[in-house]
Amino acid sequence: MNVLFSSVTIGPISLKHRVVMAPLTRSRAVQPGGVPGDLMVEYYSQRASDGGLIITEASSIAAKSRGWYGAPGFYSDEQVESWKRVTAAVHAKAGRMFAQLWHTGRSGHVETSGGSTPVSASVDPTYWQDKSHLVSTPSGWQQPSPHRALETAEIGGIVEDYRAAAERAKAANPLFVEVAGRYRWWKIGANAQYFAGLTYLDMGQTGPAEAALLKASGSHDSALAALARMALAGLYQQTDRNGQAVDLYQQLIKNPTNTVPASAAKLQLAQLYETTNPAQAKKLYAEIKDQDKTTAAGQIAAQKLSGGKPLQ
Ligand SMILES: Cc1cc2nc3c(=O)[nH]c(=O)nc-3n(C[C@H](O)[C@H](O)[C@H](O)COP(=O)(O)O)c2cc1C
Repeated sequence: MNVLFSSVTIGPISLKHRVVMAPLTRSRAVQPGGVPGDLMVEYYSQRASDGGLIITEASSIAAKSRGWYGAPGFYSDEQVESWKRVTAAVHAKAGRMFAQLWHTGRSGHVETSGGSTPVSASVDPTYWQDKSHLVSTPSGWQQPSPHRALETAEIGGIVEDYRAAAERAKAANPLFVEVAGRYRWWKIGANAQYFAGLTYLDMGQTGPAEAALLKASGSHDSALAALARMALAGLYQQTDRNGQAVDLYQQLIKNPTNTVPASAAKLQLAQLYETTNPAQAKKLYAEIKDQDKTTAAGQIAAQKLSGGKPLQ
């Protein structure tokens, strides 16, 4: 049998053949709004096939993180309405479509991002000084603007942008989204992996979330690695792997960071033990209460001990 032209099931979708169209930036969106126009409807419709899969070109998640002038986006109502025409044309041929969501990290220019400075995990001037790096801007090809280092506290905002873009993509009818945040743009992939992991968690896709969070949890940035481990432990709990979650919480308690203090990990562990080992939960709550009198963790622990949820 010819495997290429045989059907395949990917999660909940079935494809009639395995010729998948890779995401390809074509720079054909109508500017300045990054709106898919007639040309894009025609382009995707030409490439749609019965039971075949197309992954859209990378599409910006927010105007401020837009780094490629000709690309479309999923951040405005006008874009969503126009994407609906594209997906309708693909579906009319019984084709299927995923949307690729894009934050271009340090590979951007202030002319394209409405003045926002590109961001990366750390600052590397050689990136914007390298004459071989060119990005698409309203005035043509240019070297990227100097970027700044993203603060760990800012990651949540980017996750939110990905989430909002995923919602918009959902409204425009592709079946799934692919989160794009790659090494070249972010320098150290761990930041990108972390927010990709959280975005997948938000979308209930635990497999890709686990893969991304595992990568981020190996980061040299201990503050970021701890956040990723905390999220990973939560995912283990969600997927009935309490043993692995307990191991992770215990490691985090032994190696506190400013992003995940010991009391935060202890609190999660105590909550996990509430049903499986109430005596141990009580012991942990008592420790947190004694050690962290002024913090939110201390107050939650005190509440638990004074009759929040009964502990035997
Ligand atoms: C013109 C062009 C545009 C591309 N745009 C994207 C893109 O928007 N998103 C992406 O993830 N990859 C993009 N890629 C990478 C392709 O999807 C593909 O992964 C790459 O061409 C390697 O595939 P191959 O090994 O089959 O050649 C682009 C590649 C080309 C040549």
